[in-house]
Formats: sequence, structure tokens, C-alpha cells
Amino acid sequence: MAEIGHEVLGIDVDPDKIAALRAGRVPFYEPGLEELLAKHVATGRLRFTTSYEEVAEFGEVHFSCVGTPQSPGGNAADLRHVDAVIENLAPLLAGRNALVVGKSTVPVGTAERLAAMLPEGTELAWNPEFLREGFAVEDTLRPDRLVFGVRSTAAEARLRAVYAPVISNGTPVVVTDFPTAELVKTSANAFLATKISFINAMAEVCEATGADVTLLAEALSHDTRIGGRFLRAGVGFGGGCLPKDIRAFMARAGELGVDQALTFLREVDHINMRRRSRVVDLAREAAGGSFLGRRIAVLGAAFKPDSDDIRDSPALNVAAQIQLQGGNVSVYDPKAMDNARKSFPTLAYATSAENTLGQADVVLHLTEWQEFRDLDPAVLRDMVARPYIIDGRNALDAERWRAAGWTYRALGRP
Ligand code: UDX
Repeated sequence: MAEIGHEVLGIDVDPDKIAALRAGRVPFYEPGLEELLAKHVATGRLRFTTSYEEVAEFGEVHFSCVGTPQSPGGNAADLRHVDAVIENLAPLLAGRNALVVGKSTVPVGTAERLAAMLPEGTELAWNPEFLREGFAVEDTLRPDRLVFGVRSTAAEARLRAVYAPVISNGTPVVVTDFPTAELVKTSANAFLATKISFINAMAEVCEATGADVTLLAEALSHDTRIGGRFLRAGVGFGGGCLPKDIRAFMARAGELGVDQALTFLREVDHINMRRRSRVVDLAREAAGGSFLGRRIAVLGAAFKPDSDDIRDSPALNVAAQIQLQGGNVSVYDPKAMDNARKSFPTLAYATSAENTLGQADVVLHLTEWQEFRDLDPAVLRDMVARPYIIDGRNALDAERWRAAGWTYRALGRP
């Protein structure tokens, strides 16, 4: 928002986060974000506070960007943070003619409930966020589309004014009601998850027939109706969005009495979790039928490359399963080590890809960082006990690894 010309005051209830942001430090890894933060802390267009009074006084438009994690012990979305923002802000907005804009991924129906909590004269709009981690800056400044869920032309006009520099770049704007705006986000994530699980289901069939899922996907992708994106077979999807969003979507459909419409998402989830078990099974087979006394090296901890996010990470889930079955597991990731250590303290962590491979019986490639594609299999061959690699992301050059003397196995490929 500062980059497109606005005066911005950011608020968080965590004083440590605010202190870091004021000092120009982003509390997580996201390419390009720290530079942008430093730039606008310096221009003075971007400031931070922990005071709701200050933001109520300051803002004409208030964006609520808090998370909606999976409920502890359930599948529904936990709306505690979303509700807290409105509960804190609403009493301070009376008589201010402000616009509150929700960006969180929420169960359909939430916006209507929140709108009723705002004082007379304060409007709500729903403007879902579609950015991908690792591409957050790019996706925010040049989004595929903007969706405005509004109840008045005045609210639409204010959002158009806020986003004017983005819209003038040619970004399409879809103006709609609250429930449609909320559903665009959940259905987009459900579609993307389905696409990944579709190709992973094909990988299962490929494994039973000797077919190659990467060539299958390539051939499918030339059909422009299908397209090639989100058709990479592998250990499946993870992260803070797709897994919990499809579960929350199913839970909400149940409440609405249309659970049958989304039962296919249960299968999408199952196919996804089966891929993780498949990697564990392949690794056990490679280890000679049991993990006991075996060293397993895991390349990758983040749920995807260019991120330090380990939420629902397939890599760490596989590592933990192997450790539970008696394997001696060592993990390395270029950016996610601190987060991984906090959540999985019993796993062993190495200081480099080379160190993690030392004396390994099986190597698992589970997050496709460029750093791992750049490794030289010929050099690594002398470091391991047995040169056996399972590429859980279909991202390494199979011929190169084989030529260097490795047994290379991948998912959905002979
Ligand atoms: C996702 C949506 O893409 C984004 O629009 C939404 O705002 C938030 O959720 P994100 O979680 O950052 O974004 O990651 P994404 O790039 O979608 O990847 C999700 C997972 O799917 C990752 O674990 C990734 O490795 C996996 N994936 C992706 C595949 O396994 N195969 C693919 O072809 C693509």
C-alpha cells in the first residue's frame, strides 16, 4: 500500500513484531519484502503501532489481514483473530465514516456477521487475498484480479480509489456481494488443491503401469483448457492455506446442509496425504525394509521453496514419520531451519546440504529449492553410505544423478 502511494499505519498486538518492523526487519522470509519495507520505513509512508486508538484516529480505510488457522481439534476455521480485530476496532470507529476491508480467508457468511458488529456509518467490504508465499510482493503489486465484495457503490468507489495504481495496470476487477467474494477465495484454493491431487492420483496410476506422470502432465498441459500450472506431481501440497482451507470449506458446507457438494474434497485431501505415506514406503523399501539403524537425509523443510513457512509441510511430516519408525533422520533447508527446529525439536538438523548427506543410506528431496538442483551428484556420491535418492518433487535431473552413479527414484515415474 505504501509502494502504490498511500500513507500506511500497520498494527499488530505482538510488540516484538512491531519492534522488528519498525527496525525494517520482516519477521519471516519473503523475497523482496525486506527491501520494500526498508524503503517505506525510510520514506515515512509506512509506520507501525500496537495501539487501536491510534489506527482508528489515523485510517480512512482499515484492512484486516489476520490469519484463519484450522481450529484446534477440528476442521472449521478458527475465527478468533478475525473477530478480535472487529471487536477492538468497532467501538473506536463511531462517527468516523470509515471503510473496514476484510482480506482473510473466511467461511462464507462471516462478512455479513462482521458487518453487523460495526457502528452506524462504518461500512464493511470483503476483498480476498490471493497472493502466493514466495511471490507475495509480485502478486500484491500485479495481482491476477481484484475481487470487491461490497454493499454500496460508495464502498466500491473507495476500494477503486485505494487500488487505482494497480487497476490502471490492467488488473481486472470483479465487483460482487459478500458471499460471492468470500467464496471466490475458498473455491480458488479448492480448485488448485484438486488440480494437484488430480495429477497425484494419475501418479498413483502411473506407478501401477510403468507410465511417466511428468510426461503425462506435459502432454495434458498443451491442451489450453487444462493448462500446465499446478500440475506438478510429487509429495503433494502443504502450507498454511490449501490443506486447512479445503477442510474448513467442507466443514462450512456441512453447516449449510450442502456437504454432498464438497465430499470430493475429502478425496482430494486423502490423495494428498497418501503421497506422503508413499514417500515413507519408498524410503523404507530403499533402506532395505526397515528404518532401524538407517540414516535418512531429508533435503527441505519448508512447505515449498522460497519460503521459511513450515506449516503442514510435507517434508517435515515425512521426516517425522520416518523418525517415528526408528530412522535416524537429518534435515537441511536453506531458510526454514529455525522454524523447523521449534516445531520438530527431536529431528536432527545439519548446517548444509552436504552435511545432511554424510553417511546417508537414503536421500529424500522434498522441497524443490534451486540450491538442491544446483548440487553436484558426482561430488555427493562419495559422501553417502549408499547413493540412493528419492525425488519427492520430480524436480531433479534424473539422467544427471543416474550418470553420477545414483539410484534415482521419483513419484509416478518408472
Ligand atoms: C496458495 C494459493 O496458491 C494462493 O493463491 C492463496 O492465496 C494461498 O494459498 P501458497 O500456500 O503460498 O498459496 O502456495 P502454492 O504455491 O499454492 O503451493 C501450495 C502447495 O502445493 C505447496 O506445498 C506446493 O509445493 C504444492 N504444489 C503446487 C504442488 O505439489 N504441485 C503443483 O503443481 C503446485
